[in-house]
Amino acid sequence: MEQNVLLSLSHISKRFKTEQALKDINMTLHQGEILGFLGPSGAGKTTTIKIITGQLRQTSGEARLLGTDSSNIDASIYEKIGVVSDNSGIYKKMTVWQNLYVFAGIWQVSRERVEQVLAQVGLAEHRKKPAGKLSKGQTQRLVLARAVLHKPRVLFLDEPTSGLDPSTAVAIHRMLLELKEEGMAIFLTTHNMEEAAKLCDKVALLHDGEIVEFGSPQEICLKHNRNKKYSVLLEGHRELELDQNPENVRKIAGWMERDEIMRIHSCEPTLETVFLEVTGKELNV
Ligand SMILES: Nc1ncnc2c1ncn2[C@@H]1O[C@H](COP(=O)(O)OP(=O)(O)OP(=O)(O)O)[C@@H](O)[C@H]1O
Ligand SMILES: [Mg+2]
Repeated sequence: MEQNVLLSLSHISKRFKTEQALKDINMTLHQGEILGFLGPSGAGKTTTIKIITGQLRQTSGEARLLGTDSSNIDASIYEKIGVVSDNSGIYKKMTVWQNLYVFAGIWQVSRERVEQVLAQVGLAEHRKKPAGKLSKGQTQRLVLARAVLHKPRVLFLDEPTSGLDPSTAVAIHRMLLELKEEGMAIFLTTHNMEEAAKLCDKVALLHDGEIVEFGSPQEICLKHNRNKKYSVLLEGHRELELDQNPENVRKIAGWMERDEIMRIHSCEPTLETVFLEVTGKELNV
């Protein structure tokens, strides 16, 4: 087996009665890597997480998580993974601290670790609040804290920042990058292309149950940069968008020689544009 592969999917397909939800999904996740599964509603993101974590059986193909076939997962694997799907499993009447402490008992995690995680998610000052009284973003952070308490090797996040305000989303991004630095592998699903471009080492674009593009966000954007364009801002002018051709190259060279360019950059497409191009579909649907 390739080194540091923590998760691999090969030829995974899933059929619900009349619907083919996943078609021949292949991918791998390595230690210290963040992989984003991107796709519109109904693309098959949650179904994929459920198959990997043994909550749903695939129709065909194989999923291996930490060396174990996902269809034979037993309790011991849950000591090594963390799953954040929705806000379920939070005890509303217990305080923030108690919610974490119950799990610390199950996982045999020290009080120090609870404190550390509480600080990391920025909930230390709310430790005495009943969890049912937390705001949406705070609840999401508590769920995340609980999922990483036992330092899992692989973390699954189903839309971790959906519906959160930008500053809470940024706090969660920062935390995910810290966890990645610690060597955790993170599998996340999102609708948010900017989030994916910022966080993910690799992304899979999922459309109607199929991976239509896979690679680093930069690789994917450059691959789809077919009509190369440059955006140039000259002193006292509006921004110009120029195709790459010999005439424009001479123009740009002339401006450069005369030091007239205030700003110049390439115009490769964003992940969102690529997604629209390969699927013909808007993401935020
Ligand atoms: N238990 C089930 N029985 C029948 N169909 C299902 C079941 N679970 C999911 N599906 C169907 O499979 C498809 C993929 O669903 P899934 O929940 O994986 O999508 P998703 O990408 O997570 O979407 P969202 O972004 O809305 O969460 C959908 O069309 C859904 O209706
Ligand atoms: Mg989903």
